[in-house]
Amino acid sequence: MSEKNTLIEIEDLSVSFPGPPGGRRLQAADRVRLSIYPGQTLAVVGESGSGKSVSCLSILQLHPIPPARYDGGRISWRPDDTQAPVDLMTKSERAMRDIRGNQIAMIFQEPMTSLNPVYTIGSQIMEAILLHQDVTRQQAKEIAIRALSDVGIAGPEARLKEYPHQLSGGMRQRVMIAMALACQPKLLLADEPTTALDVTIQAQILELLKHLQHEHDMAILLITHDLGVVAESADVVAVMYAGRVVEYANVHALFERPLHPYTRGLLRSMPVLGANVDRLDTVMDGATVPEDFPAGYTVHAHEITPDPELGYGGPKVRLHEVEPEHWVLCEPDEGGGNPTFPRVGYVRAMTPAGE
Ligand SMILES: Nc1ncnc2c1ncn2[C@@H]1O[C@H](COP(=O)(O)OP(=O)(O)O)[C@@H](O)[C@H]1O
Ligand SMILES: [Mg+2]
Repeated sequence: MSEKNTLIEIEDLSVSFPGPPGGRRLQAADRVRLSIYPGQTLAVVGESGSGKSVSCLSILQLHPIPPARYDGGRISWRPDDTQAPVDLMTKSERAMRDIRGNQIAMIFQEPMTSLNPVYTIGSQIMEAILLHQDVTRQQAKEIAIRALSDVGIAGPEARLKEYPHQLSGGMRQRVMIAMALACQPKLLLADEPTTALDVTIQAQILELLKHLQHEHDMAILLITHDLGVVAESADVVAVMYAGRVVEYANVHALFERPLHPYTRGLLRSMPVLGANVDRLDTVMDGATVPEDFPAGYTVHAHEITPDPELGYGGPKVRLHEVEPEHWVLCEPDEGGGNPTFPRVGYVRAMTPAGE
């Protein structure tokens, strides 16, 4: 897939929120760079508050301004490989409404927050379909029934008449997925889609997403803080810390040869699949720079605390491709490094099917 174009490219996305009275603004996303190829699954991993959701919501331009502020960046979206990309950061609200749910869909951790309790499942799915597709109500109903049956809901016709509270958590997440996929999006944003579910249901939902991804040839941006989920589902992984992407690589490279001290601490702190990341102290216990870190670059293991003025890493510290398709937040030495910047992070490698 070497010459395929990226589906989406996020370049130096920065988003901030007001800080304490009289204090500095909080840099929630700080020069985030990522790209996703068609059909690829990118997992974004990092502890709570690292900027995963803020980056994801920026793709759909869903931040209310104010309080949020986009401080810079570009989000090149190319749903059609033969067309030039468009910059989502410059799109009108009206144009974004057309893209949301249609070309790019999103599912959340807690489906109850996005399902309306006073409408039936059927009317909500049909409404989503009618909003984006030029079909009759009868056709929308047929699409909705097919969508429910695609996500493994038995007796879909009867389910259409039910209300969200009549369904279990796992069922509601399936309904959300059916709704998200009814318009055949090119990209699904899944923000911790299984965190609220018990482990068995989690596995079923992830399996379902994988299956639907192949059927629809859809890319997925999967936010999680579960490294077990990453190992199971991702082709490519981006690790976020303090609003920045600190490492970005193929899933195998990331697990076998983590290069950034934060990533190394993260992997060490969670030897058990299914464990969650939320304790920074244990993460940083294992934060070291590997002895064979690629020549020409310096990573600063002790500068792991964000500077209130400069953010994490400071202005000179950028994402560099220190090994082919392996990007690490670091600083090139005097006369050293690879002049790859300002390339966006690219990781093409896909996990071969069946691996
Ligand atoms: N609407 C908001 N107002 C103020 N601060 C916010 C808002 N949304 C997110 N933040 C802050 O931005 C940072 C990143 O948040 P988020 O992207 O939600 O983290 P996570 O990686 O857990 O998804 C956090 O410090 C969070 O408190
Ligand atoms: Mg989040």
